[in-house]
Amino acid sequence: MNASSALRLLRHTSSRLASRPAAVTATTPLVKAGARPLSTISAQQIAHTQRKKNSSDPYHKSSTEAVGESAGPHEGSASRTDKDIVVEYPDDEAELAAHEQPLRGRGGVHFVRTLPTFSLEGRTAVVTGGARGLGLVMGQALVSSGSDLAIVDLNKEEGEKQAKELVEMFRRENPHDPEVIPKITAHYCDVSDPDSVNACIKEVLEAHGKIDHLVTSAGFTENFSAETYPYDRMKKLWGVDVDGTYLFATGVARHLMERNITHGSMAFIGSMSGSIVNVPQPQAPYNAAKAAVRHLAASLAVEWAHAHIRVNCISPGYMLTALTRKILDEKPELNKTWTSLIPVGKMGSPEDLQGAVVYLLSDASRYVTGAELRVDGG
Ligand SMILES: NC(=O)c1ccc[n+]([C@@H]2O[C@H](COP(=O)([O-])OP(=O)(O)OC[C@H]3O[C@@H](n4cnc5c(N)ncnc54)[C@H](O)[C@@H]3O)[C@@H](O)[C@H]2O)c1
Repeated sequence: MNASSALRLLRHTSSRLASRPAAVTATTPLVKAGARPLSTISAQQIAHTQRKKNSSDPYHKSSTEAVGESAGPHEGSASRTDKDIVVEYPDDEAELAAHEQPLRGRGGVHFVRTLPTFSLEGRTAVVTGGARGLGLVMGQALVSSGSDLAIVDLNKEEGEKQAKELVEMFRRENPHDPEVIPKITAHYCDVSDPDSVNACIKEVLEAHGKIDHLVTSAGFTENFSAETYPYDRMKKLWGVDVDGTYLFATGVARHLMERNITHGSMAFIGSMSGSIVNVPQPQAPYNAAKAAVRHLAASLAVEWAHAHIRVNCISPGYMLTALTRKILDEKPELNKTWTSLIPVGKMGSPEDLQGAVVYLLSDASRYVTGAELRVDGG
């Protein structure tokens, strides 16, 4: 061993020994005879740190055990509070500077800064399939972000019930603005039927006067092996998932073009099944339908770019809703198979789509169109 290797070894040994817990250091010789400790604190001092606890000991001073005068600056020391300090808050929030104004939203009042372009204040959004599941929770996000909402669903009764609940949610989130109440309506529609779609859009326009944004969440899946899939069921599935998206999007696009506005936008709800093949459940028509929804968004985005209508696609992975619960109730063992294939190791919750839908509808994404945003845990 040459001189420089010997020195390296000694440095390594002394630093490792110095960082050992006191219980060990107290009974173990700290440094080999003849070695030069690198710290300015002697080996003897380190060994006695735990027992001495005096204000001059730098190890004790910087530990969380140190209190009163013996405490030096250390992690957590800044969290001590001084009862003599009173932070005044104005009675009238309007007195606060613009950047200090509270933001209200899901979960109460927030003082976090956020981009104003994420707000949907003054907008009107339509969510098909909005009475339940992902559509309902995305509708909540739009209302929390300032939008009025038209819930469109086969199940109008549930839509009406949820519309009332959403108004209550908004009131709870915004206790300081009792006069500001979003307009939330519910409308019957079978999105697979062109007449029903046209009648519904007319009804929404009569109620709200305008539509700025569309989310197409009406859809369903079924599991049959391809060779046994009943043809009428397959047509129904494509009718709702594909035709329903197309019919509602084109109806709303005609209205947006008439208004000649520049902020119109849509988010189609596709699925990761539009890009991957789920296993083990057989669902070829659903997968093909969701691939069609994704490419419909890309195609309409190009076709309507001249009219400033943005069209994007959100593709969720496995989310816990009535739709997936029905599948899992029939085959509980699927839960294990699915989660073992999801990189983050768990199914998503509908709330995981809220940021995605607000982003894609709002001006925060004004240069994003024809895109697919996968929200699938990897
Ligand atoms: N849940 C998931 O894991 C998941 C994953 C990927 C994609 N998706 C897609 O998200 C969308 C919503 O799924 P969900 O889990 O919330 O389902 P869901 O069954 O909980 O809700 C679907 C809603 O759509 C309505 N609906 C069905 N057919 C309709 C029609 N013809 N006209 C109008 N409304 C109709 C239903 O009444 C219901 O309120 C679907 O398009 C689905 O394919 C869901």
